[in-house]
Amino acid sequence: MQNGPASSARMRAIRIEDYGGPEVLRRVEMAIPEPGPGEVLVRVACAGVNFMDVHTRQGKYRESRTYAVRAPCTLGMEGAGEIVRVGPRVDGLRLGERVAWCISWGAYADYAVVPQGRLARVPREIPDDLAAAVIFQGSTAQYLVDDVAHLRPGDTCLVHAAAGGIGQILVQLAKGRGVTVYATASSEDKADIARRAGADLALPYADGGFADRIREATQGRGVDVVFDAVGRSTLRDSFRCTRTRGLVVNYGSVSGSIADLDPYELGEAGSLFLTRPRLADYLADSATVQRRADEIFGRLLDGSLRVAVARHYGFDEIEQAHAALEERRQLGKSVLIVA
Ligand SMILES: NC(=O)c1ccc[n+]([C@@H]2O[C@H](COP(=O)([O-])OP(=O)(O)OC[C@H]3O[C@@H](n4cnc5c(N)ncnc54)[C@H](OP(=O)(O)O)[C@@H]3O)[C@@H](O)[C@H]2O)c1
Repeated sequence: MQNGPASSARMRAIRIEDYGGPEVLRRVEMAIPEPGPGEVLVRVACAGVNFMDVHTRQGKYRESRTYAVRAPCTLGMEGAGEIVRVGPRVDGLRLGERVAWCISWGAYADYAVVPQGRLARVPREIPDDLAAAVIFQGSTAQYLVDDVAHLRPGDTCLVHAAAGGIGQILVQLAKGRGVTVYATASSEDKADIARRAGADLALPYADGGFADRIREATQGRGVDVVFDAVGRSTLRDSFRCTRTRGLVVNYGSVSGSIADLDPYELGEAGSLFLTRPRLADYLADSATVQRRADEIFGRLLDGSLRVAVARHYGFDEIEQAHAALEERRQLGKSVLIVA
């Protein structure tokens, strides 16, 4: 045992025993977990509040192979804090280091055990709430732009839900790479957020009418890449505004999934490529985790990326935080203050 809490100490946690609506969220007292080989114990300062938490609570990942999270469990797959205990076979991390992580569950608690391979060091100038707010959405936007879409100067792309957390970062990273960025959002206010993030043209979704507008704006060619996290309500129209042999990146399904998609449709739409990538498959090792985080933290510090924490929730307000996401009222990213 190194420093950190006594082994008999207990902590607060927000858990689910079974899947369901906000009523299954339970605030409990429980033993502080022990880090195993290759793991550290972090005193959590802030946890990010994400759609993935809502999906985990609802049971969407109950059979997922990529995300091995099953009820009963402590929610929260993103956070920032300080290392207070180091398990066996952990290299190069010290007690007291400030770290952030994602795709490791248990952040809605005073302490979380996190595998070394998921941790990124946080620069001194980045506060805990901002680190917890950006590590997941920022790493996601970063791998989508560079390792899925391979965006280059002169490319064109369309970002749906561009006022959302990942949407706003995608717009900014794509612009930073010299790309012409088209955007959609559900209202004029949200389209304005996308414009302020740098979108060259921002449109309401308006029943798929965006596809004609994008074709017009690209002189009938269509864009090189569409980033579509909306899913059922937009995906087929996304095919209509992608250029021949272009790429559709369906990285989320906030409006639901299309159950009856026939690959023939991709041929008809112009020999399109369709991918459903997941961040977990693009975080192979510590170096990759740190590289993605370093670009996001670096851009926040040099001002080329702007992310504001939209709302801070207390430990007793998690139900409101989930409801704001589900009811589409959340503008930007919220965090749960733990410490
Ligand atoms: N594949 C990956 O690696 C990966 C990684 C992280 C997250 N994700 C997924 O990416 C998606 C977006 O995540 P985020 O963190 O950016 O979320 P977010 O900040 O809450 O933004 C989601 C946006 O989706 C739009 N939306 C459209 N239909 C919606 C509906 N029925 N309900 C709620 N929102 C709806 C909303 O914008 P409008 O109101 O303008 O439509 C909202 O701003 C989620 O599905 C998440 O699970 C995927």
